[in-house]
Amino acid sequence: MKYDVVAERTKRTKWYQEARFGMFIHWGLYAIPARGEWVRSNECMPKEDYDPFINEFTTEHYDPKEWAKLAKKAGMKYAVLTAKHHDGFCLFDSKYTDFKSTNAPCKRDLVAEFLEAFRAEGIKVGLYFSLIDWRHEDFPHYKDKFHPMRNNEAFKGKEHNMDRYNEFMHGQVKELLTNYGHLDLMWFDFSYDNMKNETWKAEELMEMVRSIQPHLIIDNRLEGSAEDAGSIRSLNPTTYSGDFASPEQMIPPKGIKDVAGNPIPWEACITLNNHWGYHSTDSHYKTAKMVVRTLVDCVSKGGNLILNVGPDGTGRIPKESVRILEEVGEWMDENNLSIYGCGAADFPKPEWGRFTQNGNKLYAHVMEEQVGAVCLPYMAGKVGKMRMCKDRSEVLETFFWNLQEFREHAFFFFDKHASDCYPLPDEIDTVVEIEIKNEKE
Ligand code: GLC
Repeated sequence: MKYDVVAERTKRTKWYQEARFGMFIHWGLYAIPARGEWVRSNECMPKEDYDPFINEFTTEHYDPKEWAKLAKKAGMKYAVLTAKHHDGFCLFDSKYTDFKSTNAPCKRDLVAEFLEAFRAEGIKVGLYFSLIDWRHEDFPHYKDKFHPMRNNEAFKGKEHNMDRYNEFMHGQVKELLTNYGHLDLMWFDFSYDNMKNETWKAEELMEMVRSIQPHLIIDNRLEGSAEDAGSIRSLNPTTYSGDFASPEQMIPPKGIKDVAGNPIPWEACITLNNHWGYHSTDSHYKTAKMVVRTLVDCVSKGGNLILNVGPDGTGRIPKESVRILEEVGEWMDENNLSIYGCGAADFPKPEWGRFTQNGNKLYAHVMEEQVGAVCLPYMAGKVGKMRMCKDRSEVLETFFWNLQEFREHAFFFFDKHASDCYPLPDEIDTVVEIEIKNEKE
């Protein structure tokens, strides 16, 4: 029987599509130069200048239990750590390289500790793994699009053996899948030009992944990137097309659908400031309000949000990030019914905010104060019980005198006595749960 890629994908991603909110963690040696995880490539830095950072990787403040508590407090249901980024430095004890955290002064398997701590908090765990490795000698250097040595004539004409590279790369993936227990997700990153698909021996890699951990959810970057989702959007996706699309640093205006218009799972990955890896002078952080609204926007379009933190070289999550996540957590505490298990609504986007929906529960996310009553467009006769999400208190449909001419719509006030304007109860996003009446009722 032909393996049904789409049916399997739907089954596998059930928990993931209900979870909606995750934590991304970009951590590695690049936290020490502190100019982002692309520092080697951006500055065309030779290996000899980058490698010594390993001697400073002390991680004395790495307390994954604290990280896990923070993620939980923020309402995040899964977390993904960079087991290895493009620089090739492993946060785990790989037998294929010396360039790993167990050889740094910290002498720790940071991946193992992360997995244990997050699992203990009931958070699903995933690992980011770079398909690209700028440190491996068989990975193309000269004239590659991104390699730090791309312009260095000394590497001109050097042979790179992709078979050997893939043996190494597949070997590391296998280590992660066999030595670290049950994983929920693998985040491969990324493909470009001809560095995609069978260049990675993707079919074989996926066979291995599925044979070891069949339930595992993977992203779509064995084929693609944020620039090109790959065949996940086609009606005949490859076996390595992935379980979700991965738009980056933007929210798809209309969600993501396949070519026939069926929604497919997707996850927007977004940084809290402007960098993934720790950047010591980047202080342009998103506010908690912006994070909440971005999350709601994703859910209202049937997608997930994975929000990044970039710990410093000592293992601390920047305190600005901690504060923002705690504030997001306060909102999630009161309003998470409007996020978990929710997706796109059966009603069009309202002018004052967003709708999310879970079965017959519609969540009105009111983000802008209105002049007078809040309008539920064309919903007259469809509205059952209404409750504030945060305390289950009653919200009444209103038939106020100035609404008589607009009876095709339904309306409500937050003010129990109606009609004065006053600030929204929650200026981040005030959520009302609306029971949708069954047509026959
Ligand atoms: C990119 C970058 C990278 C980052 C990733 C996260 O493709 O190469 O540094 O890890 O996106 O989505």
